[in-house]
Amino acid sequence: VITPLEMVDAINAVFGRHARARALHAKGVWCKGTFVATPEAAALTRAVHMQGTPVDVTVRFSNGSGDPNSADYADDVRGLAVTFHLPDGSRADILGQTARRAPVRNPDEFIELVRAADARWRLPLYLAKHPHAIPALGQNLPLLGPPASYATRAYYPLHAFRWLNADGAGRFVRYTWLPEAGEAGISRGEARRLGRHYLREELAERLGRGPVRFTLQLQLADEGDDVNDPTSVWPAERPTVVGGTLEVTALTDDPEVDGQVLVFDPVRVTDGIEPSDDPILRYRPEAYSVSVERRAAAESPAVTARE
Ligand code: HEM
Repeated sequence: VITPLEMVDAINAVFGRHARARALHAKGVWCKGTFVATPEAAALTRAVHMQGTPVDVTVRFSNGSGDPNSADYADDVRGLAVTFHLPDGSRADILGQTARRAPVRNPDEFIELVRAADARWRLPLYLAKHPHAIPALGQNLPLLGPPASYATRAYYPLHAFRWLNADGAGRFVRYTWLPEAGEAGISRGEARRLGRHYLREELAERLGRGPVRFTLQLQLADEGDDVNDPTSVWPAERPTVVGGTLEVTALTDDPEVDGQVLVFDPVRVTDGIEPSDDPILRYRPEAYSVSVERRAAAESPAVTARE
């Protein structure tokens, strides 16, 4: 398996190494808001942010590219990272993006696909080698085009997590953030006319009119469903439950000034939620740490890995 260091080097080789920027999802918009869980979520997990009391959140919308100056009209996945501020001062995170289905099963396939998506001539070779990825990529492709807004895409965290309730009963779930505004894209021509940074401007305008909401939808696995392969598709008849509402209320200043870094971590959970053994999920934190060390070092050379 590719090491996390090799992984971030390979990502940097595709997108360039940019001071203070994330290796991926380099360009983003920071927001604040609240999350309120439903009683159905509270019945499935004892996690403190899923009990129905409003919880403050910090949100970052992003373009998937590792270029902090990427044009918003370029084909790309978009990210929605949410951190829940828990009453004891700790945090729990959910990282989602707009690809509906995971096309890759492990870190080696991930980097191969990143390279192939960058140099499109490699894509047919990739697909010939990994035919299992074709249905997923077919579903994801139409979603890469320019969105009308960050608020008009669904976001998919993809991995399964085990939710444990107050009685200790466990159930694996997958999340989807569904936009209240509905899903909408615009033509590339229209997006170009709006400019390189239209997604931030659009979001600011939209928030001026009122909050932007997403519903947290949960798909519940059954015994025997594959919870560790992110490409597995659970049968459509598996129940879905509304787990809560995310309300994004306003843009905020970039919190990453003066050497501060704010990191979203896909395995940062709290009691009542456990990561699955999905090899991509388990791998990501170390790769993120390499990216974080690099962007922190670019800000302030005194920062060391230990700090
Ligand atoms: C092996 C697979 C993956 C690798 C190597 C990888 C790598 C990275 C890296 C290096 C960063 C920058 C971290 C930082 O500097 O803070 C990042 C950010 C991000 N990744 Fe991944 N990623 C992977 C899979 C995924 C998946 C499956 C999702 C979602 C389902 C995802 C969603 C995100 C999001 C939303 C961000 C931006 C977070 C923010 O706004 O700070 N990634 N990824």
